[in-house]
Amino acid sequence: MTLTINGQSIEAAGGTSLFDYAEQLGIDVPTSCRKQGKCKECMVEVVEGMSALSAIAEPERHLKGNFRLSCQAYVTADSGHVRCHTMRRGHMRIERQALGLPGTDHAFQLDPAVTRDGDRILIDGVEVERSSGPIHGIAMDLGTTTVVLRLIDLETGELIADTSFENPQRFGGSEIMSRIAYDTEHPGRLLMRTLAGYLSHAIEKFPVDPKTIYEMVVVGNSTMRDLFFRQNVYSIGQTPYRSITEIEMAEGKRTSTSLSESGQRSLLPIHPKARVYGAPIISGHVGADAAACMLAVDLAHEERMIAVMDIGTNTELILGNRHRILAASCPAGPAFEGGAIACGMPALDGAIEEVEIGDDGAFHLRVIGDASPEGICGSGLVDLLSELLRTDRMNEMGRFEDDIRRVTLYRGKAHDEEVYLLESDVNELAQAKGANVAGLHVVFSSYGIEFDDIDVFYLAGGFGRHVNVEASKRIGLVPSLASAKIVQAGNVAIEGATIALLSKSKRKELEGLVKKVEHCRLETHPNFFEFFVEGCQFKPVEPMPCAK
Ligand code: FES
Repeated sequence: MTLTINGQSIEAAGGTSLFDYAEQLGIDVPTSCRKQGKCKECMVEVVEGMSALSAIAEPERHLKGNFRLSCQAYVTADSGHVRCHTMRRGHMRIERQALGLPGTDHAFQLDPAVTRDGDRILIDGVEVERSSGPIHGIAMDLGTTTVVLRLIDLETGELIADTSFENPQRFGGSEIMSRIAYDTEHPGRLLMRTLAGYLSHAIEKFPVDPKTIYEMVVVGNSTMRDLFFRQNVYSIGQTPYRSITEIEMAEGKRTSTSLSESGQRSLLPIHPKARVYGAPIISGHVGADAAACMLAVDLAHEERMIAVMDIGTNTELILGNRHRILAASCPAGPAFEGGAIACGMPALDGAIEEVEIGDDGAFHLRVIGDASPEGICGSGLVDLLSELLRTDRMNEMGRFEDDIRRVTLYRGKAHDEEVYLLESDVNELAQAKGANVAGLHVVFSSYGIEFDDIDVFYLAGGFGRHVNVEASKRIGLVPSLASAKIVQAGNVAIEGATIALLSKSKRKELEGLVKKVEHCRLETHPNFFEFFVEGCQFKPVEPMPCAK
């Protein structure tokens, strides 16, 4: 029996757990309970050979899909191949610096809520500690698929360290609605507790004493943010899709949708009197990540017409300027992040990120980390679709030529070493694209402007930073604007979270800005379905007659 964990193989026999084998391979498995089945942190995703493992044990009953607790899963078969991986962490390709943003060159004044007066450390003027040591803060973008943390020195504004990892809540489903259903069906805040374990390990690995972290700013979509703050998320999953904070604000019970709790309550190893601030959401699924994007692009002071498209499991769209702002959230699903695709993977070492088809029909691939191809990430998928279209190997409806059901990009030496794209994968990508394009049409038509009226179109997120813009235009993922108008800005949301961490006045600006935003509810637009069907086709995004 061959067992492969995180790409490393070992000969396995019965009676030893996956966790023990991972240790033998030198793989660091998250744990806080030393294999007791209590902390629920040692998850692995099994991509092959689930039937060669022991039956699901009691401590793993909460896991859905192909997830197992590595301390509870034992190899039971004598032959075959089991392949699995731990939650990926640390080395995901995240940009340290967002690019081309007006607000990121410290155009704002350093004015954090945490200050020092001699040896007194204060939050909003109230003493929380006596220490002459450093003062740190964390900005966090809590995504459905990826979590990004930045550690900042609050006295200088300097970035000290950053880290990122796959959101371990994936065991409760890959997209938002299934997480909400999971949280509703499984009492005990399992999603939050597991995430807190992973966050604690990440914070403890930072090169500073965690107790010197006095403030944390959390952004994320409405569901991720509310789950983090242990709010009941049931109402976000039911029409009219409102966070409990939005409902309470409408009832006059609170004046902002922002949330705040102490470090002690957050279950994180930061200073117990630290403040954890959840930035305000906009409305419905348009969350604090979209709000942070508005802060990062300085929308409150923009005269130009700005669009921000943050492509992710949920795509956020923001359109406008200081006079009027519209926002929408598109439930695209994880396809463009490599989820729900047979050979899809996040943008990690081994992921095909660029694809070109030569005159001889051969695939020319560029792989992250110059490693052997293990799968294909979002930017590779966009390239591949564009090249298949350009060479007439796929039509606008996403059908491959000559009844082929599968396009093979790479074949290695071993029989199962293959990276391919299925027609059913194209279907998933078409639907994800359809949701994004429908969102674009709804937001632009609601604003009453054409795509060409845009002055700057920010493509945000790790995917937006690396995707080939011309390929994106060809397959119709972004509008066919002049390339000079499109700025591939990187992780704009974490930039906004950092600004809110470093400036009280900017945080106040953010609180005011979210109240000015008009929320476009895609599902209630009369032409939504028509826009969606049009958007599922692989062709440039054109203005729709009924969008006027
Ligand atoms: S190590 Fe804690 S549950 Fe497996």
